[in-house]
Amino acid sequence: MAKKYYITTPIYYPSGNWHIGHCYTTVICDALARFHKLLGEDVFFLTGTDEHGQKVEKEAAKRGITPREFIDPLVAELKDMWRLLDVEYNRFIRTTDDDHVRAVQHIYQKLYESGDIYKAEYEGYYCTPCESFWTEAQLVGGKCPDCGREVTLQKEESYFFRLSKYAPALLKHYEEHPEFLQPKSRVNEMVNNFLKAGLTDLSVSRTTVKWGVPLPFDKKHTAYVWIDALSNYVTALGYGAEDNLYKTYWPADLHMVGKEIVRFHAIIWPAILMALGEPLPRQIYGHGWLLIGGEKLSKSKENARPELTDPYELVKRYGADAVRYYLLREIPFGSDGEYTTERFLLRVNADLANDLGNLVSRTAAMIVQNFGGKLPARGKVEGTDKELVALADGAFEKVKDAMARLNAPDALEAVFEVVARANKYIDETTPWILAKDPEKRERLGAVLYNLAEVCRICAILLKPFLTKAPALILKSFSCDENAGFETLKFGALKEGAEVVKLPPIFPRIDIKRELAEVEKAVKEQKKPQDADKKAEAKKPEISIDEFGKVELKVGEVIACEKVAKSEKLLHETVKIGGEVRSVVSGIAKFYTPEEMVGKRVVVVTNLKPVKLCGVLSEGMILCADDGKGGLALVSPEKAVESGAEVR
Ligand code: MSP
Repeated sequence: MAKKYYITTPIYYPSGNWHIGHCYTTVICDALARFHKLLGEDVFFLTGTDEHGQKVEKEAAKRGITPREFIDPLVAELKDMWRLLDVEYNRFIRTTDDDHVRAVQHIYQKLYESGDIYKAEYEGYYCTPCESFWTEAQLVGGKCPDCGREVTLQKEESYFFRLSKYAPALLKHYEEHPEFLQPKSRVNEMVNNFLKAGLTDLSVSRTTVKWGVPLPFDKKHTAYVWIDALSNYVTALGYGAEDNLYKTYWPADLHMVGKEIVRFHAIIWPAILMALGEPLPRQIYGHGWLLIGGEKLSKSKENARPELTDPYELVKRYGADAVRYYLLREIPFGSDGEYTTERFLLRVNADLANDLGNLVSRTAAMIVQNFGGKLPARGKVEGTDKELVALADGAFEKVKDAMARLNAPDALEAVFEVVARANKYIDETTPWILAKDPEKRERLGAVLYNLAEVCRICAILLKPFLTKAPALILKSFSCDENAGFETLKFGALKEGAEVVKLPPIFPRIDIKRELAEVEKAVKEQKKPQDADKKAEAKKPEISIDEFGKVELKVGEVIACEKVAKSEKLLHETVKIGGEVRSVVSGIAKFYTPEEMVGKRVVVVTNLKPVKLCGVLSEGMILCADDGKGGLALVSPEKAVESGAEVR
């Protein structure tokens, strides 16, 4: 039976500011999951969202909507982000999922019955953004010691978890399992700052927060959001109900988290598991942060500098592979790393466009040019070949070793060492000179064969990290796109295999021009609306009730064609929630039917149906008209499900 590998990311707060910091953890986990799959292991990769708690409750109330209405579009957006970045998770858990809620109740019930949860009164300082309690002594200058923000004094009846009881067992576990918490520096932090100082029991319920899991034994209380959240690692496997996945995959092999939440994972979570009598995860890794201007990247900090931190924009401009590569390669693993758009572009240009892209395109081009696109024979091995072959053959061990340490930057360095050696090999063997001498044809063939093999091997080694380029490289040398690590040995390519030239996999970026464009785009995004801009033609004032008569919904264009006999009209088929409608709009001069398909639009859905040029129109698609001949569709600025109401 295949060895199992269970890996998790933190579950993210749906806060509407997804940035590449969030992508960092998830992409590392995805690379690890893919790597273990390629090793033939039975992998379960979990990610998701942490949706309960005071923060969400407050944000929703501020907007006058329900928590669900607030979080659903943000969750859809996050899933979109993972799709764009080719993140292949097995389950996306939401703490609002029914099975999770039931399992959290089961956990509380069990701990209550065993006496590890008891009722008392709580008085302490609460930091809402961190969803954390602090004692007065722990505050720094009266503020939250983690984030420096205001805290509020809260006093209420609460259930407590006997955390204090588990301090000795936790210390023992750290000692006996040095691999449990990594990197080492985090162990010292936990031991010195928390465990040695003695743990206090933890308040694990609230009566003032309604948006949470009700406790089964006292419905006035909801579960403390961190216990709710941490439980996801077992509830996602059916803990307490359908135990099949749980039996197969628990304990987790790795909880990958940012260093600021190590405390929850390395103290509270194992104590809860001990209280439940369940085994502890094999490892918790607290990685460093992506910084901007020396501070943890967050949307608000971005304002200070024109850095492009929006993953959607980055993927759209440079592709998923570029973003994944940067995240996996640039930041020394375990440490913090400063993010700048320039460094991102330099890294992508140097490694992907220059080193890897050039190697592949030059190799394929020379085979096409000199051998009519048929791979030449391997030929005799000469001195310089041996070094290249040895390096290519040895790379897998280095990648394996680095990945055992979870160190993607080291793994990628090992692959790019081979790439760099191959480029040097081209300079040493000068195939363009060999090509001029008919007597050197066999040697030319051997050199090109070796280069093709290196391209193939590197493509396979890159599979956990990049999701587009490896398949393209393999295709260029007629290799099976699904080839795995078992095919790595040098010499697998067959003489006569077809080789084709592909367009550049990573086009070179003109960094200066790109930086200027990015700066402009980022600034424009932030430019406040011009308040003085007068509406061209003012319409009479209407009441909210009058406005309320218009029904507006988000729709998705699923098909579109030109209306015959009309230059202006397009006929769209629009999916609005569970309903499909026929809509005619005068936008043919601005959009082609192909461009329209897949677009999310805002539709007036309670207009009286009409026929335009003989075609039924059951609604109107909204557009912005600049009055100067420019027209743009109105679309929700974030991903929302079709059928969502616009108000
Ligand atoms: N919901 C909790 C986690 C519960 S896990 C049981 C939470 N959510 S969060 O949305 O704030 O996400 C935190 C995680 O996002 C960090 O631990 C880290 O993995 C990732 N990152 C967020 N910003 C980051 C950087 N600037 N740099 C690196 N990782 C970052 O905490």
